[in-house]
Parts: sequence; structure tokens; C-alpha cells
Amino acid sequence: MMKILESIPPISSAFIILFTSMLVFSNTQLPTNNDFIVKHSKRFLDRVPKNLPSETTMLDLSENNLSLLLSSDFSSLTKLKLLNLSYNLIRELDANIFRFNSKLQHLDLSHNHLKNITCSSLQHIRGLQYLDLSSNKFENIFHCKEFSSFLHLKYLGLSATRIQTSYLKEIEHLGTLHIFLGLEHLSYYEPGSLQVLSTDKLHIVLPVFIQDTFILNDIMNTSRTLEISHFRCNKSCDYLMESLSTISKNSKVSTLIFNNITVTWQDLIQIFKAVWYSSIECLKVHHLMLVGEFPYFVPFNYAKTSLKALSIQHSTSKIFYHRGPPHPSQTYSEMMIENFTFVDNDMIHFICPSKPSIFRFLNLARNKLTDTVFQNCDNLPLLETLILKYNRLEKLSAVSTMTSSKKFLKHLDVSNNKLQYENGEDCHWSETLLTLNLSANRLADTTFGCLPINVKILDLHNNQISHIPKTIMTLTFLEELNLAFNWLTELPDCSHFSSLAVLHVENNSLHSPSSHSLQICQKVRVIKAGNNPFRCDCDLKDFINWGKQSAGDVIEWPESYMCQYPEDVKGTLLKDVLLSEVSCNTAVLLGIILGTLAGIMLCISCLCLYFDLPWYFKMMWNWTQTKRRIRNTNPKDIQKNLVYHAFISYSQQDSIWVKSYLIPNLEKGDGSVQICQHERDFVPGRSIIENIINCIERSYKSIFVLSPNFIQSEWCHYELYFAHHRLFTESSDNLILVLLEPIPQYLIPSKYYKLKALMAKRTYLEWPKEKRKRGLFWANLRESINVHLPKPNQETVKVFNINQENDSEPNTCSLNLIENTTYSAVL
Ligand SMILES: *[C@@H]1O[C@H](CO)[C@@H](O)[C@H](O)[C@H]1NC(C)=O
Ligand SMILES: *[C@@H]1O[C@H](CO)[C@@H](O)[C@H](O)[C@H]1NC(C)=O
Ligand SMILES: *[C@@H]1O[C@H](CO)[C@@H](O)[C@H](O)[C@H]1NC(C)=O
Repeated sequence: MMKILESIPPISSAFIILFTSMLVFSNTQLPTNNDFIVKHSKRFLDRVPKNLPSETTMLDLSENNLSLLLSSDFSSLTKLKLLNLSYNLIRELDANIFRFNSKLQHLDLSHNHLKNITCSSLQHIRGLQYLDLSSNKFENIFHCKEFSSFLHLKYLGLSATRIQTSYLKEIEHLGTLHIFLGLEHLSYYEPGSLQVLSTDKLHIVLPVFIQDTFILNDIMNTSRTLEISHFRCNKSCDYLMESLSTISKNSKVSTLIFNNITVTWQDLIQIFKAVWYSSIECLKVHHLMLVGEFPYFVPFNYAKTSLKALSIQHSTSKIFYHRGPPHPSQTYSEMMIENFTFVDNDMIHFICPSKPSIFRFLNLARNKLTDTVFQNCDNLPLLETLILKYNRLEKLSAVSTMTSSKKFLKHLDVSNNKLQYENGEDCHWSETLLTLNLSANRLADTTFGCLPINVKILDLHNNQISHIPKTIMTLTFLEELNLAFNWLTELPDCSHFSSLAVLHVENNSLHSPSSHSLQICQKVRVIKAGNNPFRCDCDLKDFINWGKQSAGDVIEWPESYMCQYPEDVKGTLLKDVLLSEVSCNTAVLLGIILGTLAGIMLCISCLCLYFDLPWYFKMMWNWTQTKRRIRNTNPKDIQKNLVYHAFISYSQQDSIWVKSYLIPNLEKGDGSVQICQHERDFVPGRSIIENIINCIERSYKSIFVLSPNFIQSEWCHYELYFAHHRLFTESSDNLILVLLEPIPQYLIPSKYYKLKALMAKRTYLEWPKEKRKRGLFWANLRESINVHLPKPNQETVKVFNINQENDSEPNTCSLNLIENTTYSAVL
């Protein structure tokens, strides 16, 4: 893991941190993932901080006020690979300072006040690849015999005020080196000194006022790439031309770079002339200041040059306006070279070559070119790449017709202009165009009506496209489409781009990219769609799944994909949003609801079967009905002559059940319930019928214990008849049927039609076989005979037992009367 340790600067600013970190590692070595970076630049430090972490591999102490370094300052940093001490006030280096830093590869001591270095301080750091000692106060070229053992050195930066041959001996043999020589303050030069150098690249900063031509002469043949900075010809540039003329066809230099030079137009042309027939293949002139007037002639015969590439960047001209042809750009347009770069030069127009040129690569970026550039220009027949970015082009139609005559044009970059296109305007692109960069313009949806038919890479990012029209030309070969930073609300429809493989739609207005588009864009391997205002609801589910599945091909997934809506998930990463299959899929949702319902039904059915729930419900219903009835009955309505709560009619066969279950459970032994029972309560001397009638009339309810036995008893039928009769005459339901055993319909003789009708019509209480149900059964029964009886008269009733008389008869009904005394005693 790469770790970066930042002490917070006094003026805490993220920008400074970023900026310094860019500087520290520019041009040198990029940190790898295993590096531990400590940055302390621009902190006004005058001492190296103590307690630096010992695992530090890169330490930046540049731009501070360090003047004195102690031998112990870096002794704990044994893993140090890069040390930047540039832009400080260091005057001296201790001989032992790098004793424990044998891993050091990059050491930047430039821009300090060093006058001398003890050579032995270098003996511990022989693995150095990069050593910058330039811009110090060395008088002579700093040299040590230790240099010869620096076998890995690739870059050496030096500066001096005096140069003598003897001081260059140690570096003369370092063949593959990039040497930087800062000679701004040169006061003495021993002729021939620099001739001994033999490097890959030599960058020399010339003295402000060059005193003699020797230096230039001496360096002209030292390296493959020669960079000359700060060169100005004040009166005459003859000595430069003289030096340049020493570069022969066979000399070593192939790239010549002039950096920061001030010359006249004539001198510039002289420079061209000097390199035109030499070994130089590439000439770069950067930061060019042109003085004097433009000469109104076409310079010289440009044919047959060794030059392949010319680059003029950032030139300014003090006096720059011409009265008529030739145009200043003609100086360049007639050149017979393949690569021409003419960037950042404020050029308003670039003239079409007067005869077929051999330009293949033309970079005219950052000028002020308008739509007229290269219109109707047929003399660029070989042009393959044309870069016109950062200019003032306005009409896409003009650009398209400009390309039509370029038969080999493959790459066109017209980004960062002001291009627009209106429907119906002319549109004729070169059919050879493969790459078209239209980014950062003002193009809208109409652009899709004017595109080169064979384009493979199309960059339309940073425009004003809100949607791709349905009817557009089909771009069969388009592989890469960049629509980032537009106003799109929907993913593009790939049906027009059947080969599309790479799609950029980040920073648009996509709320919920539809899965439909994703399906159509099947060939798309790589997509970048971050920083859109995603609405995280079910519509986005397919997109999220797709992102998760193909994470490697979704660039910047997951960190750039965040919900914007709805409000409660704003800022949540798409990958963390929970959208369950259930809540998003109607079919599944419906299935689950129905399934749950079915499950519940099944459970209920099982419960019913197992616990006989319907029975309980029926009983509860009876209970509540009875309660309600009791509430609705006026107690005064209950006949005054009622003496018993209930009269029980049963078959003799069922008497065991009646005696051991029914009566004990109704009476509960506390005497609050009076039951008319024949064995105790029948009045002697009266006929049985009389007794029965009497009993029924004086009871609040009549309970009939129904069983097959009961049905076969004649008596019972009478009893039932009486009770039924009263039921009808007084319309009070005083009848309670208890079904002791199930009675099959066929068992009921047809003459008992009243019983049949009763059983069919009335709900009866069934005697439950299961013990657990019996509590409710009794409660129900008790509730239905529960009534407040009026105080009885003190009438003594003798017990009449009819059982004796009917002993012979197996199937008799028992008529019961409860003794009044018992009743009153209890009360
Ligand atoms: C050291 O720091 C300076 C200034 O911050 C920077 O310009 C330079 O490139 C750095 N050197 C190295 C070797 O990183
Ligand atoms: C010329 O330009 C092409 C295309 O950019 C490039 O590949 C080539 O290296 C350039 N040649 C020289 C000599 O700079
Ligand atoms: C198009 O130009 C822009 C800006 O000039 C650049 O950032 C981008 O990389 C270019 N696109 C392609 C595909 O080269």
C-alpha cells in the first residue's frame, strides 16, 4: 500500500498539497504502491524534522529554509529512495550525511547555496540514478572521482561559473547520461572543454550574454539530443550559424531543441537553412520570440531535407503584420516535411501549400484559425492527422467539407472550438476518417445528422446533446463513443452503432438508464457512466445488477456511481442500494402474496382438522348469542311461577351420563342452579304426563339429551311435544338440545317429524368426545340456563320416583323436578 504522510501546512490548502506532489514526482520517478511518502515542502522549516517515520521511502523537504544539515538528520531513514532538498539555503554537506541511506536513488540538491561537496559524502550512495546539483554556487564543474563508480546514473544536473577541461574528466565516460548544464553565470570557458562530453541528451543553459562562440561549437557534436536554452542574438547571429554549419550530414545530433530564444525572422530562416541539410531530423523551437519585420519572400528551396519533424510552439512576434502575399504562414506551408507542429502561436490563417505537400501530420492547435482554414485546399494529399483544437472554428459543415478533399485523412481533432451544426447545412466528410474529436464544442442533437460514415472513434464529450434522435445515420464501424458531460437523460440506442464497444456517458443527466438500452448495446464491453443523478428505485435494478456483474468493465465502479434520488438514499453508492427482487418484480410479489395466503389457508385448515376449531367457533357463537338474548330479556318477563332453571329429559340408558356429568356440572354443588330431576322431584299421586307438564312449565329451559336411545323412547316424544308446544305458544326458545351421540337421520322414525324439523332447524350442542373441549361445552350450557329466578313459595313437594313403576321398561324418559326446599335452603 502506498502511504502519503502530510503534515498540515500553515495555510492549509488542498491545492498546495496536490500541486507540490505533482512537482515532486514530475520528470523523475513515479511512486509505486509500496512507497511511503512524507511531504514537508513549503513549511518554512529551518531544521530537518525529527522523528521522521523510519519506513519513509520518499521525502520531500523542498522549498524550505534549511541551511545546515546534521549528519544524523537522515540516519534513521534506511529505506529512503528519494530525497528532495531543492530550493533551500544549504551551504554545506556533512561527509557522513548519507551514510545510512545506501538505497537512495534520487537526490535533488538543486537551487541551494552549495559551494563545495565533500566527495566522500557520495561514496555511500552509489546506486544513485538521478543527481541534481544545478543552480548552486559551485565555481567549477563539481567533480569527484566517485562519479566514475556511479554506474546507474541517468541524470546529472550541474552548474558552474568556470569550465575547465580537467574538471570534466570524471563525467566524460558516463555514456548514456542525460546531462543538464546550467551556465547562466559562466565567467570563464576553456575552449574545447565540453567537446569531451558524450551523452544521449545534453541540455545546456547558455550564459545571458554569450561571450564567445566556442561553447556552441564544442557542444554541437556531443549528444543525440541537444537542447539549448536562453539563446538570444542581439546584433548578429552569425556565430550561431557558423556553429550550426558544423553539424554535418553525418554528425551525431538528430534532435535539436531551442528553448526560450529571441531571434529575427531572418535569423530564424537562417537556422532553418542551417539544419535543413544536416543530420538533424527533428527541430523544436519552443518559446520563440520573433523580433524585426517579416521578410516578404519565400525563403529557400525546401526540397530534399533530412528534417522529418518541425515543431514551433508558443512563439510571439513583436512586429507582425504583413502587407500582402506571401503570408507568414507560407514560410511553413511550403516546407517539405512530414510532421509539422505549430502550436500556440496566435496564427489567424494557415495558407494552403501552393503545390502538393508531403505533410502527414499537422498540429495547428491553439491558434486563432477560423472556418476558412484549408477550404478547397487540394494540396494536402497525404495528410493523415490534422489537429485544429483550441481554435476559432464555428461551423461543423465547413469542417466537414474541408476534409472531403483529403484522401488519406484518418484523424481529425477539432475539439475546443465553437462548432455548431444546423439541420440541412452541407455535410461532406472524408470517408477515410476514423477518429473524430468534436469534444468541447457547442454541438447539439442535430450533430448526429452530420458525421463521417466510417468513423471508429467519436469524441463528443462536453457538448449540448440531450438525446440522440431516432432517425440518424447508421455508423456501422463506430467502436468508441464518448458522450460524457452532455445533457443526456437516456442511454444511447445502440441499434445505430452495431459495433460499439466503449461508451462514455458519465456526467450527464441519466436518472435510470433503462435495461432495454443495455440489452441492445450488447457489444459494449466498457462503459463509464459515473456521476449521473441516479434515481435509485426499481427501474435502476437491472443497471445496478449489471454494474455489479461486470464491475471490471464499468469504469470507476463503484465509487462514482451514487444515488441522487430519492432523498433518503442520496449519496449512497449504487452497489450498496437494497432493491430486493421481491419489491421490484410484480410477478414475484404477486406470487409471494398468493403463496402466503395459500399457506395461511393451509395452516388454518390444518389447525381446524387438528383442534376442531369450527366446533369452538360454534360454541363461542352460541355463547355470545345466549348472552345477547339474556341481555335483551326483561327479567320481569320471566314467568313468576318458574321454579327451576332447567328440566332435563333423557333416556334411561343415558342416565349414567346425566348423573355423573350433566347434573354435577350444571349444579356445581353450590345450589345456585335448580334442576328438575324425576328421581327426586316428581310429585307422587300425579300422572306422569301431569308431572312432565308441570315440570316443563315451571322450568326456565328444557334440556333434551338426544341419542339413539332417546329417539326410541315414546315418552320422550311427548316431552318434546310439550316443550315444543310451549315453544310455539310463547315463542320463547326454552328448548336446548344436547346431542350425546350422533343420530343418523334414518334412525329417526318418520312420525317424529317434529323432532326432525327441530334438529334440522335448531342448533344443538354436541357432547364433545375430547376432554379439552368439554370446559367450553359446560360453560355454554350453563350460560344458556343462567337466569335469575323469583323467590319461590314455601311449597313442599314430595319426591315422586317414577323409576319404580317403569323398571321393566328399558327405554324410559326420566322427568326431573328439583325439590323446592333444597332450592330455598341454598338461597
Ligand atoms: C523537488 O522539488 C522541486 C520543487 O518542489 C521540484 O521542482 C523538483 O522536480 C523535485 N525534484 C524531484 C527529484 O522530485
Ligand atoms: C510524426 O508524427 C507521427 C504521428 O504523430 C509520429 O508517430 C511520428 O513519430 C512523428 N515523427 C517524428 C520524426 O517526430
Ligand atoms: C479529444 O480532445 C480532448 C481535448 O482536447 C481530449 O481530452 C480527448 O482525450 C480527445 N479524445 C480522443 C478520443 O482522443
